[in-house]
Amino acid sequence: MKVFINKIIPDIGYRMLEEAGVEYTVWKEKPVLDREQAIHFCKGHDAFLSAGQPGMDADFFRQCSHLKAVALHSVGFDGIDIQGATEYGIPIGNTPHVLNKATAETALLLMLTVARKALFLHNKIKKGGWGISQPTQDLGFDLAGKTLGIVGLGRIGAELARMCTVSWNMKILYHNRRRNEEAEKEFGAVKVSMDDLLAQSDVVSVHTALTAETKGMFGYEEFKKMKPSSIFINTARGGIHKEDELIRALDEKLIWGVGLDVTNPEPMKADNPLLEMENAVVFPHIGSATKETRDEMTRCAVENILAGLRGERLPYPVNP
Ligand code: DGY
Repeated sequence: MKVFINKIIPDIGYRMLEEAGVEYTVWKEKPVLDREQAIHFCKGHDAFLSAGQPGMDADFFRQCSHLKAVALHSVGFDGIDIQGATEYGIPIGNTPHVLNKATAETALLLMLTVARKALFLHNKIKKGGWGISQPTQDLGFDLAGKTLGIVGLGRIGAELARMCTVSWNMKILYHNRRRNEEAEKEFGAVKVSMDDLLAQSDVVSVHTALTAETKGMFGYEEFKKMKPSSIFINTARGGIHKEDELIRALDEKLIWGVGLDVTNPEPMKADNPLLEMENAVVFPHIGSATKETRDEMTRCAVENILAGLRGERLPYPVNP
């Protein structure tokens, strides 16, 4: 049995495959693999471990219908035609649960960095700008006691809510299709309409999947409904906000600041205007990028591969 792996993964993954007697090929080249190359390699292998790129449509799965498993090295599966895979009998697995804390910590890091202008002030020192500090200068704002609005209060949103209620006694509003009764009980979270969430939150943090429904969900009109003193955080997917409208909202001071771990497209180009804005902080999609979390994600992905090769149901399945 042979597995094709399209990026370099943590060592735990190679060890697990070797212990199971499974051979593997790893694509270590730059640039990343394109679709045709991925199909070519998949044809010579029994399973595919994919750490992002390329997207996979129904035709991809038709051409690779011999695959016994496709293991995504991510929790998100936007860009993957799950129905197409299911039609061709290919089990798809992801890495749920294990990145909740790391991603919530990333959202928190963005909230703090933006609220205290930390990156802007760091860069000011680098330019020799640490002069005599006045009591009215370099002011950010407290998170303690403020209102956090979570759009998509699932597992990652709940971790963030936990951190923000325990440490800062923040009030939690949320907007979901379905009620999250557990979160209501644990954090006193209140389900509200999108308009109420936007109008009342000091921080709006997005934790929903990218779907046809959430694509472009945050544009100029939504930013206009937020408080001029508020922060917009997105650690979910870049396609959920409209970047040009976000830049316009910041320019017009409709909102106070923005923290992004995800952009559209990725990678963001070095000349993007957001990178020059005082009140914007951008990370290169590092939500799950801790040693511990990436090891755990690899463990889940390889467990999915091994189960698929044995003809068993994947432990972390995405297909219905
Ligand atoms: C995921 O797992 O979906 C995260 O975005 C990390 O890539």
